[in-house]
Amino acid sequence: MKPEFWINAWETGRRGFHMSEVHPDLPAHGALFGGEGAVFVPLCGATHDLAWLRDQGHHAVGIELSPLALAELAEREGLEESGRHGPFTKFEGPGITVLQGDYFHLTPALLGPIAGIWDRAALVALHPDQRADYVALQRALLGDRGRLLLNVFAYDQALTDGPPWSLDTDVVAALWPEAQLVEERPAELPPHFQPAVTRVYRTR
Ligand SMILES: C[S@@+](CC[C@H](N)C(=O)[O-])C[C@H]1O[C@@H](n2cnc3c(N)ncnc32)[C@H](O)[C@@H]1O
Repeated sequence: MKPEFWINAWETGRRGFHMSEVHPDLPAHGALFGGEGAVFVPLCGATHDLAWLRDQGHHAVGIELSPLALAELAEREGLEESGRHGPFTKFEGPGITVLQGDYFHLTPALLGPIAGIWDRAALVALHPDQRADYVALQRALLGDRGRLLLNVFAYDQALTDGPPWSLDTDVVAALWPEAQLVEERPAELPPHFQPAVTRVYRTR
């Protein structure tokens, strides 16, 4: 999806993906990140998951395109704009850093070492053509030791386009062969996506 699609989605209030509290898969499986270290939340929107990670003792690092999402996060979590960081504008507060800009411009040097990645409504938000580059960069950011917690949807892609896009088990296996399926349940998506499932994967 082009950046304008998401900028416009925030400006027109199309934010059905936003949750008013932490996503339940994060408390359920977040122990895989260990007790400390930075956890990266790509395409973070205005998620409460950053605050949950901070409250567990992690440094939560997000990246997000939309200035509106950043403004909401900054006000709620007490983040201050602290200047430029490469091609990004940096917002910081205790235990949380958010970079405003395009994920695809990130590098391991700009992000620094991370203990893991929490990918919710992020991989599924990208057009299928963007997936290979997206995951290749995630691998570079994770390095050898970082862990992945991934939440995706699967439904009949012939019925409708995304976002969220469908990622069936074979697609996830091609992108993340080392990831294990840890949960599967009916997905809470609008009727035109049904029947749909949510699957949660993690690496060791
Ligand atoms: C479906 S929303 C999910 C937000 C968040 N993960 C959550 O759980 O609420 C996808 C988000 O990714 C952002 N986004 C899309 N493409 C991006 C990119 N290339 N770089 C940074 N953010 C991006 C959008 O602005 C949007 O806020």
